[in-house]
Amino acid sequence: MSSNDGTGRLRAIEQKFNSELASVHDARSLEDIRTRYLSRKSGLLTTQLQNLGELPKDQRAEFGRVANQLKSKIEAALDTLQTTIFEREKQSALERETLDVTLPGNRRRIGHRHPLTIVWKEIEDIFISMGYTVEDGPEIESTYYNFDALNFPVGHPARDPRDTFYVGENMILRTHTSPVQVRTMEKVQPPVRIICPGRVFRRDAFDPTHSPMFHQVECLVVDEGITFSDLKGTLERFHKQFFGEKTKTRLRPSFFPFVEPGAEVDISCVFCDGSGCRVCKGTGWIEVMGAGMVHPNLYGFVNYDAEKYTGFAFGGGIDRYAMLKYNINDLQLFFQNEMRFLQQF
Ligand code: PHE
Repeated sequence: MSSNDGTGRLRAIEQKFNSELASVHDARSLEDIRTRYLSRKSGLLTTQLQNLGELPKDQRAEFGRVANQLKSKIEAALDTLQTTIFEREKQSALERETLDVTLPGNRRRIGHRHPLTIVWKEIEDIFISMGYTVEDGPEIESTYYNFDALNFPVGHPARDPRDTFYVGENMILRTHTSPVQVRTMEKVQPPVRIICPGRVFRRDAFDPTHSPMFHQVECLVVDEGITFSDLKGTLERFHKQFFGEKTKTRLRPSFFPFVEPGAEVDISCVFCDGSGCRVCKGTGWIEVMGAGMVHPNLYGFVNYDAEKYTGFAFGGGIDRYAMLKYNINDLQLFFQNEMRFLQQF
């Protein structure tokens, strides 16, 4: 083997390397070509150097020199290409993973009170500021508290299972918050000044103004010398506070077994200020409550001195107050938990 043969082989390797290098474009094929030429055991160039001993002695030095030069060239070429490929891949990764800081984020929603709770609390606040305390009573109630002790005669239509949910012979889901009147008077002697907000239940089908479950707030005041004008004044004050100072309150004669005299309570229409619109059906008034002076018969059930004390009571729908306050025409919206509705409050 002549030195020409030896260096010729090296030139052939160099050419082959150069042409192969031209098609190396990524880290992986770069690693492949490095292995192919420079791997210690089987690299095309490495094996040439390992076979140095097969050359005539006088050619070995020259061959070794050229081979080492080529090795350096290949290494340098590979290193340069490696830098290029690394930069290019970094660049394309940056482009691929670019963060668009102008994109809208995922806003984390913060919970808040349900509109009914807002109104419930607001009503509580108004009465607390007038010196009332807030009472509570059971939703599953006996017919005694819901009807008997409230002076409902036997056979009164409200007792009918078609109107009232019975859970036992004498147990029902309370149909109003008035039983809390009796429970309160059983516990404490006058003066009594309480309200009781809570859930009530009636066998009504769902429609825009009815639901089998809704909310009422009850009010009871008993003391010496309480009169009908105290009732009127309290209702007036409450409505002005809740709906605004221009709100008027009016009482119409009505009947409830547990009050005498009884009244239906209207407020001047909050939508037309009393001039007449679709909501108040042109009357200028909207009915919001039942009210009256505590019926003396009730005092017999709770050991109050009917000669000494008088009192008033009223009860109204919290849902109805919320509908009027927020101009909502469908009661069911409160119970459907539709986020687009609830988010508005
Ligand atoms: N409990 C009556 C109702 O549910 C309302 C009311 C309460 C009437 C207090 C008079 C006094 O309709």
